[in-house]
Amino acid sequence: MPQTIAVLDFGSQYTQVIARRIRECKVYSKIYHHSVSAAQLRADGVIGIILSGGPSSVFAKGAPMPDRAIFTLGVPVLGVCYGIQLMGKLLGGRVGRSTHREYGHGILKVKKPGRLFAGLPRTLRVWNSHGDRLIQLPPGFAAIGTTENSEFAAIEDRARDFYGIQFHPEVFHSERGVEVYKNFLLGVCGAKQDWTTKDFIKHAVEDIRRTVGKSHVILGLSGGVDSSVAAALIHRAIGKQLTCVFVDNGLLRAGERAQVESLYARNFKINLRVEDASELFLRRLKGVTDPERKRKIIGRTFVAVFEQSLKSVGRAAHAEFLAQGTLYPDVIESVAIAGNPAALIKSHHNVGGLPARMKLKLLEPLRELFKDEVRAVGAALGLPREVVWRQPFPGPGLGVRVAGAITPARLDVLRRADAILQEEMMASGWYWKVWQSFCVFLPVKSVGVIGDERNYADVIALRIVESLDAMTADWTRLPYDLLQKISSRITNEVRGVSRVVLDISSKPPATIEWE
Ligand code: XMP
Repeated sequence: MPQTIAVLDFGSQYTQVIARRIRECKVYSKIYHHSVSAAQLRADGVIGIILSGGPSSVFAKGAPMPDRAIFTLGVPVLGVCYGIQLMGKLLGGRVGRSTHREYGHGILKVKKPGRLFAGLPRTLRVWNSHGDRLIQLPPGFAAIGTTENSEFAAIEDRARDFYGIQFHPEVFHSERGVEVYKNFLLGVCGAKQDWTTKDFIKHAVEDIRRTVGKSHVILGLSGGVDSSVAAALIHRAIGKQLTCVFVDNGLLRAGERAQVESLYARNFKINLRVEDASELFLRRLKGVTDPERKRKIIGRTFVAVFEQSLKSVGRAAHAEFLAQGTLYPDVIESVAIAGNPAALIKSHHNVGGLPARMKLKLLEPLRELFKDEVRAVGAALGLPREVVWRQPFPGPGLGVRVAGAITPARLDVLRRADAILQEEMMASGWYWKVWQSFCVFLPVKSVGVIGDERNYADVIALRIVESLDAMTADWTRLPYDLLQKISSRITNEVRGVSRVVLDISSKPPATIEWE
């Protein structure tokens, strides 16, 4: 059992971010329900406790409370935001109700660095998000930091190693916040920095084995990073007790299905079932030009095909679990505030309802990880760079990249042009530097000339963007020579294309995809 830092979750949206910051310090942590008993924490060999923030007021009826005995375990405790109010309330201080919440930036003045702020500047920009605040220190405590709104923005009880902070060091906007955690973990708790990706894998493998037992798991493989890493991880844990289902919707890029078959079935020896549903998808999409209708048809058809496949594979294998490559940001998305477009992005992948309908339990071994951590896990499991660093590809695939009506001929032209673009992006190294690079088939014809002949043919747009999170994006300034090479290769090698254009729109106002 590794040395464990317990993060008690009082419902903050940042609890997982705290866990992530702890992993960044290479220390093992575990998130517990806020009501976990002190006895359990002792049994788990916990060497430090962090009380997360939370949306409640400590005065609210039913406000989440920890087991008071956690303060008698003899291990250091750090209360963050709601956590500091709890310490104030439970350890004999006084907390004042606030009529309004304090959000956003503030300046923390460090009065006494002590162990928590060791090595940090005396003023720090910090991120606040709280309602109540401490108005009288509990016995044994001293204030070590103040803000404009609070005399007790950071407090400590050196004798018991209890610390409280009003702000959120885990969020990006808090200056040098990771170092505050590092000081607590290493300086106060004496944690060893020995928690690595390999340990995560070992732990996850044991966990999956324990959960699954002798039963069988099915996973929908899309070829994207998340489902690929989930497949490799679950396969490492339970081998042939895993079956992956890959749906060929006829809207894949050139060679994609073959790559999936070769990597997972031949290389990893994973049970792989490929559902060729391309005819069904293309039949249902025939003549449809409205982007939203296309997306709905593709989404619905995907769920139907996948469900059918689950039924037959599941019955044959007596599957009890449906695995998904859900990441922490997806968990946030699914509870995202209404109107947040992020919540809609993956709607088609959301096979929500399906597991319950099929009486399957969900297995989500990556649900606490962030994307970069998932990539590290994938690399450690031996997935190739092309998979681990693959650019995002939308669920509806080329269906939203053939603008207008989808036909096999148009898909064919798009695939061939897109393969050239990818080849050149890879060869020049640009593929790894941009967020996405792809071709779009435009439903217009343009006049060209080949030899002496007039050539009235198709137009391909190049869409190459930089982005951090797909919420905003800018077009990539590729070198002219490279653009020229891509353009002339496409017009020379793809019959039926007479013109290549470059999309130079940012998001917003445009979106990354054309439909
Ligand atoms: P837009 O076009 O909205 O795309 O700027 C933002 C990011 O999301 C991807 N995308 C999708 N991903 N299912 C997905 O899994 C979808 O239906 C979908 N639509 C867009 C897009 O490629 C970009 O990375």
